[in-house]
Amino acid sequence: MAVQISPSILSADFARLAEEAKAVEEAADWLHVDVMDNHFVPNLTLGLPVVQALLKHAALPIDCHLMIEDPDRYAPAYAEAGSGSVTIHAEAAKAPVRTLRAIRAAGARSGLALNPGTAIEFYEDLLDEVDMVLLMTVEPGFGAQKFLDMVLPKIRRTRAMLTGRNTGHGPAGHGEKGREIWLQVDGGVSDETIERCAEAGADVFVAGTAVYGAQDPARAARDLREQAERATARAAWARG
Ligand code: DX5
Ligand code: ZN
Repeated sequence: MAVQISPSILSADFARLAEEAKAVEEAADWLHVDVMDNHFVPNLTLGLPVVQALLKHAALPIDCHLMIEDPDRYAPAYAEAGSGSVTIHAEAAKAPVRTLRAIRAAGARSGLALNPGTAIEFYEDLLDEVDMVLLMTVEPGFGAQKFLDMVLPKIRRTRAMLTGRNTGHGPAGHGEKGREIWLQVDGGVSDETIERCAEAGADVFVAGTAVYGAQDPARAARDLREQAERATARAAWARG
């Protein structure tokens, strides 16, 4: 699986979102949009109307990360609006199978996010419904937090689980061969931490401060990609 970079507009200038999206258009794969409702997390950002506006102006596909209390009710609309990927939190969803299926039915990739303290093993049975697992490497809610190394073992365990499914030899033993589930990391991903994430098994990298806090966001995104690609080439999990 190729490395993918998803710059988070949480660290961009909210008054100039279209320009900020354009700044990374050539260098990134996705535009990560953090929807926060001030209930699931103690911060309030933006919602569907802003995503709909961005969809009209951004060339990159939108990677919606919903940090909201009631994703079962609100997530499908983000997919129906045209987002390329919609991720809900395992800690918030009450009917994740129904919601993940509704996201896919609306034409988006379905994502399941886990907070740093939430174990992946509990959600293994949901993987058939999921196109991407997002492992938070900070507590969700704010940009520019310190990367939590404690999540690295979970990234390794998740990668092992996904590899097992792809080959059909995983613990569950019923993985759909050939369908790749992506493994995204989000929070504190920078030139100091991205190699650790890639070596542990991540292949989609969200970066807010490390991209939009840089003088040249496109260059920062390209540098992160190169670093992640080098680390992936060294990683045992990627060599099969
Ligand atoms: C945090 C958000 C992240 C945030 C990451 O809850 O989910 O996407 O933008 O920001 P950095 O890369 O600055 O840690
Ligand atoms: Zn995010």
